[in-house]
Amino acid sequence: MSETLTKSAARNIFFGGTVFFFVIFVGLVAHSVTKANAIAAANPVTPSVAAGKHIWERHACIDCHTLLGEGAYFAPELGNVWVRFGGLESPDGARDALKAWIKNQPTGIAGRRQMPHFNINESELDQLVDFLKWTSEIDTQKWPPQVSG
Ligand code: HEC
Repeated sequence: MSETLTKSAARNIFFGGTVFFFVIFVGLVAHSVTKANAIAAANPVTPSVAAGKHIWERHACIDCHTLLGEGAYFAPELGNVWVRFGGLESPDGARDALKAWIKNQPTGIAGRRQMPHFNINESELDQLVDFLKWTSEIDTQKWPPQVSG
């Protein structure tokens, strides 16, 4: 049996491969960081958005709703609720409508799933809406495909 792969050739392949893929790895990390920074700069997390996220978490909205597909499938997707409520055409109208919706729960309409009432004050409601608006501006590559959620 002839020895085609010498010890030194095997060592060169090992070290060469390690260096090659390490360089690719560093390049991919640099790409991710640059892209993440650009995304963060385009859609900054303001203090109000951050506060809104805390309110969202405190009231466990995710126990019934999904946000960009994650969460419970009892109630509508809210990642694009800002768009669904007309936020792109009329931001003030969408803000008022979202706040009014949350304030007026439960509807008590027979045959419809009910959302509980949450005691959320005006400024917290604004922060919550800022969070939902911010979420709708994440580049999800057009997901969900329909505005209905
Ligand atoms: C116990 C389950 C439950 C929880 C918790 C809940 N919701 Fe809901 N939510 C619902 C249901 C059910 C609907 C749909 C009701 C309907 O269409 O009549 C709804 C609808 C909505 C809508 C309107 C969506 C649309 O497209 O019409 C918004 C906005 C909303 N919820 C926001 C919230 C926020 C914000 C929280 C947390 C503070 C929350 N929900 C917590 C059950 C829940």
